[in-house]
Amino acid sequence: MKICKTIAEFRLQRAGAPRPVGFVPTMGALHAGHASLVATCRAECASVASSVFVNPLQFDQAHDLERYPRTWEQDVVLLESLGCDLLFAPTAAELYPDGFATTVAVAGPTLGYEGAHRAGHFDGVATVVAKLFGIVEPDRAYFGKKDAQQLALIRRLVLDLDLDVAIVPVATVRDPDGLALSSRNVRLSAKERERALGIAAGLRRAATAWQDGERDFDRLIDVARTAGLDYEYLAAVDPLTFQPPQPHGPALLVTAVRVGATRLIDNIELDAQP
Ligand code: PAJ
Repeated sequence: MKICKTIAEFRLQRAGAPRPVGFVPTMGALHAGHASLVATCRAECASVASSVFVNPLQFDQAHDLERYPRTWEQDVVLLESLGCDLLFAPTAAELYPDGFATTVAVAGPTLGYEGAHRAGHFDGVATVVAKLFGIVEPDRAYFGKKDAQQLALIRRLVLDLDLDVAIVPVATVRDPDGLALSSRNVRLSAKERERALGIAAGLRRAATAWQDGERDFDRLIDVARTAGLDYEYLAAVDPLTFQPPQPHGPALLVTAVRVGATRLIDNIELDAQP
């Protein structure tokens, strides 16, 4: 695996890479969720590129950026073991030099939910992903369904800017007890982790009710709510627009929950049915 710290170095390596080139952007602190993206990319592409960059633009609070877990050595070992060919790991000064003055802002699917709760977050994501796509020039790019609203934003960005990259969604990886893997899970105490299990358990209850024929989204949301959890939002949305779903789906139940000092997001798909 070739590690590139600068854009120029990466471009040089990228020029000789066999196509299709697949790309997995990350912020490091890699876990089995990221690994699943890289493994999927490895299976589908001639070259695998990944990036590790904790993007300051997408953190709305300075202390959240400082506290973000960093596990560089382990990340390199994991990416290497998964067969990653090119790793782009720039500094903030490399991506955002003095005079940097452009923001990519996607409206539409970013307006509610995470977008409403985290000012500027999605502009930061759209800006860095647009830059990374410009540097990496991937044929295919892999994103987790765990961050469903981010996935909707990336799809919108690619459509609106006519970017020539196929976006590939990858299923959410969960611990055996159902908790969706997240770099933030390391901050949960054992008690908090136990409480956090109610998030996925609730979503699963609602998915079962959906499979059993329940089509009233308000009732499905009631079924998904686990008593004692501090929900910031729990809602049914169309997976592409994040507007209210059509009566028979497809829909996502999306939620953000505060567990102690940690904020967790999760979602579950309710597939379209006649
Ligand atoms: P990060 O949180 O590191 O996530 C990188 C990718 O891993 C995203 O596509 C995310 O959806 C996916 N992912 C995270 N947890 C997952 C899980 N449990 N199962 C499957 N996939 C999972 O998302 C970002 O970084 C950043 O916003 C980024 C796109 C890199 C831009 O800075």
